[in-house]
Amino acid sequence: MTRLEARGVTLAYEARTVSRDLDVAIPDGSFTVVVGPNACGKSTLLRGLARMIRPSSGTVSLDDRPVADYGAKEFARRLALLPQSPVAPDGIGVADLVARGRYPHQSLLRQWSPADEEAVSGAMAATGVAELAERAVGELSGGQRQRVWIAMVLAQDTPLLLLDEPTTFLDIAYQLEVLDLLADLHAAGDRTLVAVLHDLNQACRYATHLIAMRDGAVVAEGPPSEIVDADLLERVFGLIGDVVPDPRTGTPMIIPAGREARQAMRAGVSAATGHDGSSG
Ligand SMILES: Nc1ncnc2c1ncn2[C@@H]1O[C@H](COP(=O)(O)OP(=O)(O)O)[C@@H](O)[C@H]1O
Ligand SMILES: [Mg+2]
Repeated sequence: MTRLEARGVTLAYEARTVSRDLDVAIPDGSFTVVVGPNACGKSTLLRGLARMIRPSSGTVSLDDRPVADYGAKEFARRLALLPQSPVAPDGIGVADLVARGRYPHQSLLRQWSPADEEAVSGAMAATGVAELAERAVGELSGGQRQRVWIAMVLAQDTPLLLLDEPTTFLDIAYQLEVLDLLADLHAAGDRTLVAVLHDLNQACRYATHLIAMRDGAVVAEGPPSEIVDADLLERVFGLIGDVVPDPRTGTPMIIPAGREARQAMRAGVSAATGHDGSSG
Protein backbone atom coordinates (compact mmCIF):
# COMPACT_ATOMS: atom_id res chain seq x y z
CA MET A 1 0.00 0.00 0.00
CA THR A 2 1.10 3.53 -0.72
CA ARG A 3 -0.16 6.37 1.38
CA LEU A 4 1.52 9.15 -0.57
CA GLU A 5 1.60 9.27 -4.33
CA ALA A 6 1.58 11.56 -7.34
CA ARG A 7 -0.21 10.41 -10.47
CA GLY A 8 0.22 12.09 -13.83
CA VAL A 9 1.37 15.22 -12.08
CA THR A 10 2.64 18.30 -13.89
CA LEU A 11 4.51 20.71 -11.63
CA ALA A 12 5.20 24.20 -12.89
CA TYR A 13 6.01 27.73 -11.80
CA GLU A 14 4.06 30.09 -14.02
CA ALA A 15 5.79 29.69 -17.38
CA ARG A 16 8.40 27.14 -16.26
CA THR A 17 7.29 23.52 -16.29
CA VAL A 18 9.59 21.42 -14.11
CA SER A 19 7.96 17.98 -14.23
CA ARG A 20 5.45 16.75 -16.76
CA ASP A 21 3.12 13.81 -16.22
CA LEU A 22 5.15 12.48 -13.29
CA ASP A 23 4.23 9.32 -11.40
CA VAL A 24 5.82 8.86 -7.99
CA ALA A 25 4.74 6.47 -5.25
CA ILE A 26 6.42 6.68 -1.87
CA PRO A 27 6.56 3.13 -0.47
CA ASP A 28 4.90 2.92 2.90
CA GLY A 29 7.32 2.68 5.79
CA SER A 30 10.29 3.43 3.54
CA PHE A 31 13.22 5.75 4.04
CA THR A 32 13.06 7.19 0.56
CA VAL A 33 15.91 9.38 -0.67
CA VAL A 34 15.63 11.61 -3.73
CA VAL A 35 18.82 12.34 -5.65
CA GLY A 36 19.63 14.17 -8.86
CA PRO A 37 21.58 17.09 -10.25
CA ASN A 38 20.96 20.70 -9.25
CA ALA A 39 17.68 22.15 -10.51
CA CYS A 40 16.31 18.80 -11.70
CA GLY A 41 13.13 19.26 -9.69
CA LYS A 42 13.75 17.52 -6.35
CA SER A 43 12.48 20.39 -4.20
CA THR A 44 9.61 20.94 -6.59
CA LEU A 45 8.57 17.30 -6.18
CA LEU A 46 8.65 17.60 -2.38
CA ARG A 47 6.60 20.80 -2.57
CA GLY A 48 4.09 19.05 -4.78
CA LEU A 49 3.82 16.08 -2.40
CA ALA A 50 3.43 18.44 0.56
CA ARG A 51 0.85 20.51 -1.38
CA MET A 52 2.93 23.65 -1.17
CA ILE A 53 2.38 23.95 -4.91
CA ARG A 54 -0.69 22.80 -6.74
CA PRO A 55 -0.09 20.59 -9.78
CA SER A 56 -1.35 22.06 -13.05
CA SER A 57 -2.58 18.57 -13.89
CA GLY A 58 -2.76 15.19 -12.18
CA THR A 59 -3.34 14.37 -8.53
CA VAL A 60 -1.28 14.00 -5.39
CA SER A 61 -3.04 11.82 -2.89
CA LEU A 62 -2.51 10.91 0.72
CA ASP A 63 -4.33 7.87 2.05
CA ASP A 64 -6.31 7.67 -1.20
CA ARG A 65 -7.62 11.19 -0.83
CA PRO A 66 -6.44 14.18 -2.90
CA VAL A 67 -4.18 16.32 -0.73
CA ALA A 68 -6.19 19.41 -1.70
CA ASP A 69 -9.22 17.95 0.11
CA TYR A 70 -7.61 18.02 3.55
CA GLY A 71 -8.03 20.77 6.08
CA ALA A 72 -4.77 22.56 6.88
CA LYS A 73 -4.30 21.15 10.38
CA GLU A 74 -5.60 17.73 9.42
CA PHE A 75 -2.96 17.56 6.67
CA ALA A 76 -0.24 18.89 8.97
CA ARG A 77 -0.97 16.15 11.49
CA ARG A 78 -0.16 13.57 8.83
CA LEU A 79 2.66 15.11 6.84
CA ALA A 80 5.48 17.49 7.75
CA LEU A 81 7.83 19.19 5.30
CA LEU A 82 11.12 20.77 6.21
CA PRO A 83 11.85 23.02 3.22
CA GLN A 84 15.31 23.56 1.79
CA SER A 85 15.64 27.13 3.07
CA PRO A 86 13.17 27.63 5.89
CA VAL A 87 12.76 31.18 7.21
CA ALA A 88 12.34 31.72 10.96
CA PRO A 89 10.12 34.55 12.22
CA ASP A 90 12.20 37.54 13.31
CA GLY A 91 13.61 37.28 16.82
CA ILE A 92 12.03 33.91 17.64
CA GLY A 93 13.67 31.71 20.29
CA VAL A 94 14.66 28.09 19.78
CA ALA A 95 12.07 26.55 22.12
CA ASP A 96 9.31 28.70 20.61
CA LEU A 97 10.23 27.67 17.08
CA VAL A 98 10.23 23.98 17.99
CA ALA A 99 6.88 24.48 19.79
CA ARG A 100 5.38 25.73 16.50
CA GLY A 101 5.60 22.14 15.32
CA ARG A 102 2.76 21.40 17.74
CA TYR A 103 0.39 23.90 16.17
CA PRO A 104 -1.60 21.32 14.14
CA HIS A 105 -2.26 19.35 17.31
CA GLN A 106 -3.92 22.29 19.05
CA SER A 107 -7.39 23.72 18.89
CA LEU A 108 -9.59 26.09 20.86
CA LEU A 109 -10.55 23.20 23.08
CA ARG A 110 -7.17 21.58 23.21
CA GLN A 111 -4.56 24.11 24.20
CA TRP A 112 -0.93 23.47 25.15
CA SER A 113 -0.74 20.11 26.96
CA PRO A 114 1.77 17.84 28.66
CA ALA A 115 1.84 15.81 25.42
CA ASP A 116 2.94 18.95 23.54
CA GLU A 117 5.57 19.66 26.17
CA GLU A 118 6.85 16.11 25.91
CA ALA A 119 6.98 16.18 22.11
CA VAL A 120 8.95 19.44 22.15
CA SER A 121 11.47 18.38 24.78
CA GLY A 122 11.84 14.94 23.16
CA ALA A 123 12.51 16.49 19.74
CA MET A 124 15.03 18.92 21.21
CA ALA A 125 16.83 16.16 23.06
CA ALA A 126 16.92 13.94 19.97
CA THR A 127 18.51 16.68 17.87
CA GLY A 128 20.88 17.88 20.59
CA VAL A 129 19.48 21.40 20.82
CA ALA A 130 18.12 21.30 24.40
CA GLU A 131 20.93 23.50 25.64
CA LEU A 132 20.06 26.09 22.98
CA ALA A 133 16.43 26.39 24.16
CA GLU A 134 16.69 29.99 25.32
CA ARG A 135 18.80 31.25 22.41
CA ALA A 136 17.48 33.28 19.50
CA VAL A 137 17.33 31.24 16.29
CA GLY A 138 18.85 34.14 14.33
CA GLU A 139 22.03 33.99 16.42
CA LEU A 140 22.79 30.33 15.82
CA SER A 141 25.34 28.83 13.47
CA GLY A 142 24.03 27.24 10.28
CA GLY A 143 24.41 23.75 11.69
CA GLN A 144 22.74 24.58 14.99
CA ARG A 145 19.85 26.23 13.17
CA GLN A 146 19.42 23.21 10.91
CA ARG A 147 19.09 20.95 13.94
CA VAL A 148 16.49 23.28 15.45
CA TRP A 149 14.42 23.06 12.27
CA ILE A 150 14.64 19.30 12.34
CA ALA A 151 13.49 19.40 15.97
CA MET A 152 10.49 21.45 14.87
CA VAL A 153 9.31 18.91 12.29
CA LEU A 154 9.99 16.05 14.70
CA ALA A 155 7.81 17.78 17.29
CA GLN A 156 5.05 17.85 14.68
CA ASP A 157 5.06 14.07 15.13
CA THR A 158 3.64 13.03 11.77
CA PRO A 159 3.65 9.57 10.17
CA LEU A 160 5.11 11.14 7.00
CA LEU A 161 8.15 13.34 7.19
CA LEU A 162 9.64 15.09 4.14
CA LEU A 163 13.04 16.77 4.49
CA ASP A 164 14.67 18.81 1.74
CA GLU A 165 18.46 18.58 2.10
CA PRO A 166 18.40 18.26 5.90
CA THR A 167 22.17 17.86 6.06
CA THR A 168 23.07 21.11 4.28
CA PHE A 169 25.28 23.38 6.41
CA LEU A 170 26.30 20.50 8.67
CA ASP A 171 29.83 19.23 9.04
CA ILE A 172 30.39 15.59 8.15
CA ALA A 173 30.00 14.31 11.72
CA TYR A 174 26.68 16.12 12.17
CA GLN A 175 25.52 15.02 8.72
CA LEU A 176 25.91 11.44 9.85
CA GLU A 177 24.28 12.19 13.20
CA VAL A 178 21.24 13.65 11.48
CA LEU A 179 21.07 10.68 9.11
CA ASP A 180 21.43 8.26 12.04
CA LEU A 181 18.66 10.11 13.82
CA LEU A 182 16.42 9.77 10.76
CA ALA A 183 17.36 6.10 10.43
CA ASP A 184 16.43 5.56 14.10
CA LEU A 185 13.09 7.28 13.62
CA HIS A 186 12.51 5.10 10.60
CA ALA A 187 13.52 1.93 12.42
CA ALA A 188 11.31 2.80 15.40
CA GLY A 189 8.15 2.04 13.51
CA ASP A 190 5.44 3.44 11.37
CA ARG A 191 7.16 6.50 10.02
CA THR A 192 7.76 7.06 6.31
CA LEU A 193 10.64 9.39 5.52
CA VAL A 194 11.44 11.18 2.29
CA ALA A 195 14.69 13.14 2.15
CA VAL A 196 16.55 14.94 -0.60
CA LEU A 197 20.27 14.31 -0.19
CA HIS A 198 23.21 15.50 -2.23
CA ASP A 199 25.75 12.90 -1.21
CA LEU A 200 25.10 9.80 -3.26
CA ASN A 201 27.18 7.56 -1.00
CA GLN A 202 25.18 8.67 2.03
CA ALA A 203 21.98 8.20 0.04
CA CYS A 204 23.01 4.63 -0.75
CA ARG A 205 23.83 3.92 2.89
CA TYR A 206 20.59 5.21 4.36
CA ALA A 207 17.88 4.83 1.73
CA THR A 208 15.64 1.80 1.61
CA HIS A 209 14.22 3.27 -1.60
CA LEU A 210 16.07 5.62 -3.93
CA ILE A 211 14.47 7.91 -6.49
CA ALA A 212 16.94 9.24 -9.07
CA MET A 213 15.73 12.25 -11.03
CA ARG A 214 16.93 14.20 -14.01
CA ASP A 215 15.22 17.03 -15.89
CA GLY A 216 12.06 16.69 -13.83
CA ALA A 217 11.64 12.98 -14.56
CA VAL A 218 12.30 9.85 -12.53
CA VAL A 219 15.19 8.03 -14.23
CA ALA A 220 15.27 5.05 -11.87
CA GLU A 221 13.86 4.00 -8.52
CA GLY A 222 14.31 1.10 -6.18
CA PRO A 223 16.64 -0.15 -3.47
CA PRO A 224 20.08 1.48 -3.97
CA SER A 225 21.85 -1.84 -4.41
CA GLU A 226 19.52 -2.72 -7.25
CA ILE A 227 19.65 0.50 -9.23
CA VAL A 228 22.95 2.29 -8.59
CA ASP A 229 25.64 1.38 -11.11
CA ALA A 230 28.04 3.16 -13.45
CA ASP A 231 25.33 3.47 -16.08
CA LEU A 232 22.96 5.24 -13.66
CA LEU A 233 25.75 7.62 -12.61
CA GLU A 234 26.17 8.62 -16.20
CA ARG A 235 22.46 8.84 -16.99
CA VAL A 236 21.59 10.89 -13.90
CA PHE A 237 24.66 13.02 -13.25
CA GLY A 238 26.52 12.72 -16.55
CA LEU A 239 29.37 11.42 -14.42
CA ILE A 240 31.80 8.74 -15.41
CA GLY A 241 32.97 6.57 -12.55
CA ASP A 242 32.87 3.21 -10.86
CA VAL A 243 30.43 1.84 -8.35
CA VAL A 244 31.96 -0.50 -5.78
CA PRO A 245 30.63 -2.01 -2.56
CA ASP A 246 31.11 0.37 0.36
CA PRO A 247 33.80 -1.39 2.45
CA ARG A 248 31.91 -0.55 5.64
CA THR A 249 28.33 -1.28 4.69
CA GLY A 250 28.34 -3.13 1.38
CA THR A 251 25.99 -0.56 -0.14
CA PRO A 252 26.94 1.01 -3.49
CA MET A 253 29.79 3.50 -3.29
CA ILE A 254 30.73 5.91 -6.05
CA ILE A 255 34.31 6.42 -7.15
CA PRO A 256 34.36 9.22 -9.74
CA ALA A 257 36.81 8.71 -12.57
CA GLY A 258 39.93 10.83 -12.61
CA ARG A 259 40.03 14.10 -14.45
CA GLU A 260 41.63 12.71 -17.61
CA ALA A 261 39.00 10.02 -18.03
CA ARG A 262 36.19 12.51 -17.47
CA GLN A 263 37.70 14.96 -19.94
CA ALA A 264 38.18 12.18 -22.47
CA MET A 265 34.52 11.29 -22.09
CA ARG A 266 33.43 14.90 -22.62
CA ALA A 267 35.68 15.12 -25.67
CA GLY A 268 34.08 11.94 -26.98
CA VAL A 269 30.61 13.39 -26.42
CA SER A 270 31.49 16.63 -28.19
CA ALA A 271 33.07 14.77 -31.09
CA ALA A 272 29.83 12.81 -31.42
CA THR A 273 27.47 15.78 -31.10
CA GLY A 274 29.52 18.59 -32.61
CA HIS A 275 29.28 20.58 -29.36
CA ASP A 276 32.34 21.71 -27.46
CA GLY A 277 30.86 20.48 -24.18
CA SER A 278 31.50 23.79 -22.44
CA SER A 279 27.88 24.71 -21.83
CA GLY A 280 25.60 23.25 -19.18
N1 LIG B 1 9.71 29.57 -7.00
C1 LIG B 1 10.15 29.30 -8.23
N2 LIG B 1 9.77 30.04 -9.29
C2 LIG B 1 10.21 29.77 -10.55
N3 LIG B 1 11.05 28.74 -10.84
C3 LIG B 1 11.48 27.97 -9.83
C4 LIG B 1 11.05 28.20 -8.48
N4 LIG B 1 11.65 27.26 -7.69
C5 LIG B 1 12.39 26.50 -8.51
N5 LIG B 1 12.29 26.92 -9.79
C6 LIG B 1 12.95 26.32 -10.95
O1 LIG B 1 12.46 24.98 -11.09
C7 LIG B 1 13.53 24.11 -11.46
C8 LIG B 1 13.64 23.01 -10.43
O2 LIG B 1 14.02 23.57 -9.20
P1 LIG B 1 14.15 22.72 -7.86
O3 LIG B 1 12.96 21.85 -7.74
O4 LIG B 1 14.39 23.70 -6.77
O5 LIG B 1 15.44 21.86 -8.16
P2 LIG B 1 16.35 20.98 -7.17
O6 LIG B 1 15.72 20.98 -5.83
O7 LIG B 1 16.43 19.63 -7.81
O8 LIG B 1 17.71 21.64 -7.17
C9 LIG B 1 14.78 24.97 -11.58
O9 LIG B 1 14.97 25.30 -12.93
C10 LIG B 1 14.44 26.20 -10.78
O10 LIG B 1 15.10 27.33 -11.28
MG1 LIG C 1 16.33 21.68 -4.03
